[in-house]
Amino acid sequence: MKKWNVASVRAAKGVTKLGCTTAYDSTFARLADESGIPIILVGDSMGMVMLGYETTLPVKIEETLSAVAAVARSVKNAMVVADLPFGSYQCGDDVAMLNAVKCIQAGADAVKLEGGARVSGLIRRMTQAGIPVLAHVGMTPQSVNEYGGFKRQGKTEEAANEILEDAKTVERAGAFAVTLECIPAPLAAQITASLSVPTIGVGAGPDCDAQWLVMHDLLGLNEKAPSFVKKYASLADEVRKAFSAYVAEVAHGTFPQ
Ligand code: KIV
Repeated sequence: MKKWNVASVRAAKGVTKLGCTTAYDSTFARLADESGIPIILVGDSMGMVMLGYETTLPVKIEETLSAVAAVARSVKNAMVVADLPFGSYQCGDDVAMLNAVKCIQAGADAVKLEGGARVSGLIRRMTQAGIPVLAHVGMTPQSVNEYGGFKRQGKTEEAANEILEDAKTVERAGAFAVTLECIPAPLAAQITASLSVPTIGVGAGPDCDAQWLVMHDLLGLNEKAPSFVKKYASLADEVRKAFSAYVAEVAHGTFPQ
């Protein structure tokens, strides 16, 4: 199988719907890759599912870089996308470029950043420098303090139009795909039909070209997963069972023999 890249992801639009996920370490990245996941995002969701924070805001670029390197080392076919964390692209475009370059040098094939029109200049500059960019509009978790919580966006006509315009603007700026997070399904369908690049939805209904599910949510490791999530396994139960069996066997002297 050939490694996924910007061209093959774009070519999948209207042909194959892609189930994409996140990973933050080499073991799970390898398992996702071996299972045919086309795009692995080293998401800033790492802050919540790996590091125990309430939001994604505390994640540092150094943490992202170390996770990107671990994931990239274990992946053969999936495209690896580094999610630029909060603060790594808000303090001036030169700093943002430098951080994006570090992600590519750590092994990422592309970077993702949140925002629409307000980051379109940066997206243009990155793509012109040869750094593929995956955009992210709708509910952008790094704006949680502006929203007052992780709240579905695009509920009024005005808000929906703004998200549609944001999506068109980031496509014009050169984004090779656009993440649509937590927006009404009809709006996601409208955006998907309006763009020539793929949309990747998360909590945005069935009509996007591709889907994200955070790995811990889809595997049932995160017991606080959002309601739109489908769990494809219940690993939290399995892990607890394995740990308890081990503790009991050591206590009873049945392991080791
Ligand atoms: O950080 C993340 O995992 C994400 C996905 C939900 C798209 O941004």
